[in-house]
Amino acid sequence: MRVIKPLLLALGFSLSATALAATQIQLDSSAKGAVINKNIYGQFAEHLGRGIYEGLWVGPDSKIANTKGFRNDVLAALKDLHVPLIRWPGGCFADEYHWRDGIGPRDKRPVKVNTNWGGVEEDNAVGTHEFFDLVELLGAEAYVNGNLGTGTPQEMAEWLEYMTAEGKSTLAELRRKNGRDKPFKVHYFAVGNEAWGCGGNMSVEYYTNLYKHYTTFLKTPANNTPKWIASGSHGDDTSWADYMTANIKQKMDAVSFHYYTLPTGQWDVKGAALQFPESEWISTMQRTLAMDTFITNNKKVMDKHDPEKKVGFYVDEWGTWFDVEKGENPGFLYQQNSLRDAIVAALNFNIFHKHADRVHMTNIAQMVNVLQAMILTDKEKMILTPTYHAFKMYVPFQDATALPLKLSNVPQYKLGEFAIPAVSATAAKAKDGSVYLALVNANPNKAETTQINLDGIQINSVSGQLLTADAMDTHNTFAKPDTIKPTAFSATGKNGKLSLDLPAKSILVVKVQ
Ligand code: AHR
Repeated sequence: MRVIKPLLLALGFSLSATALAATQIQLDSSAKGAVINKNIYGQFAEHLGRGIYEGLWVGPDSKIANTKGFRNDVLAALKDLHVPLIRWPGGCFADEYHWRDGIGPRDKRPVKVNTNWGGVEEDNAVGTHEFFDLVELLGAEAYVNGNLGTGTPQEMAEWLEYMTAEGKSTLAELRRKNGRDKPFKVHYFAVGNEAWGCGGNMSVEYYTNLYKHYTTFLKTPANNTPKWIASGSHGDDTSWADYMTANIKQKMDAVSFHYYTLPTGQWDVKGAALQFPESEWISTMQRTLAMDTFITNNKKVMDKHDPEKKVGFYVDEWGTWFDVEKGENPGFLYQQNSLRDAIVAALNFNIFHKHADRVHMTNIAQMVNVLQAMILTDKEKMILTPTYHAFKMYVPFQDATALPLKLSNVPQYKLGEFAIPAVSATAAKAKDGSVYLALVNANPNKAETTQINLDGIQINSVSGQLLTADAMDTHNTFAKPDTIKPTAFSATGKNGKLSLDLPAKSILVVKVQ
């Protein structure tokens, strides 16, 4: 109380009982926020389980309404998310993918075994042309992940030539023969995936040499040069970002990074998607917040070699990873998605905004039917997950400029060995000049009050959306698709200040007016 009282008075709040209990949120006018690159809201679609086949692609002859083979219901839902980019074809799959298998008449394409994911048949129905159809249908950008593990520099270079060549080269002509006259626009290109693991079990020194070797031969027309991405590390390992930014001085626009949230932190028993104990709610939240530390530590090592922040840090795989649903192919990574996932997504967004000066892209794993998906399908049926709703609520933050906030008096939510700040917040000025605020209450048991002072920005009223539910694992099903969805929210302010109440386990996104 002795510390809080003068602080509250300095912030201009009266000392009501509510004020004392409330989280104080103050605009930090001394700090400059970075632009929140829209690509922070990127998506990942791998040839894995029912992610691409059924989830996105049903084929042009399907009874399910589709455009160029991609199901219309899923396309319409994804359009509302303003998906900025899609990463494809993997993941681990990328390092066993040979692009020539996925071009030409579909009935002539080779059938392979998807050795990474369930050992099922991969008939290559979705290949380069289909991927670009998807990207163009969604108005998104393309992130193509090249095969370093089982490919060659020649194969990788030829894929880029096939996609981008303008003239009469044999590969450009082959692309035309396959139905595409003008080149595809390749915005991002990665050399391998998880080189430390499924991509070849390499050391960073070995990968760095290979990266330089391969990129020497990757050439594209000047007006269609992708941003080059080196495959980096995962979790708390900063050595890859450190070594690569120190040793790769050309053709590296970003280092990638992967981090998945497992409730138990253990790969053998990760924890269930639904009907989990509260101990796995808080452990999931605490492990999600570790993203902040991992990014901070990677930024520190990158700042040593690249103080001008020319090289991006792309979190190109993130999300929850639970035990696979009973009765599902364990290799398909299909999991239900609940309010807990939505809160994980929102906490990650708030962290990414904070680090937007270096984090220019992230990709949730994955788009449909795999891991922390936006959408689940069951043949012709489709449902939107709580994660979908979180993404949609945060759309105004795409390409907005972050307004750094200082939070104080934040209550701790504790259980057993775990303790986290209950409230997390982010604010930004959108392209149209409006100010948006997103608040998360990660405490599943207790409502929280916040007192907000956006210094100089007039707050008269706010309106937006609230996502919450009674149970920690509230989720949508094919029988009840609207069990959890956002509801309208509004409040009024006075003298530029505002008090907002957050229900237990909730996300609130509002426009300030
Ligand atoms: O997203 C599933 C898998 O997780 C990806 O294929 C791989 O890169 C990561 O280990």
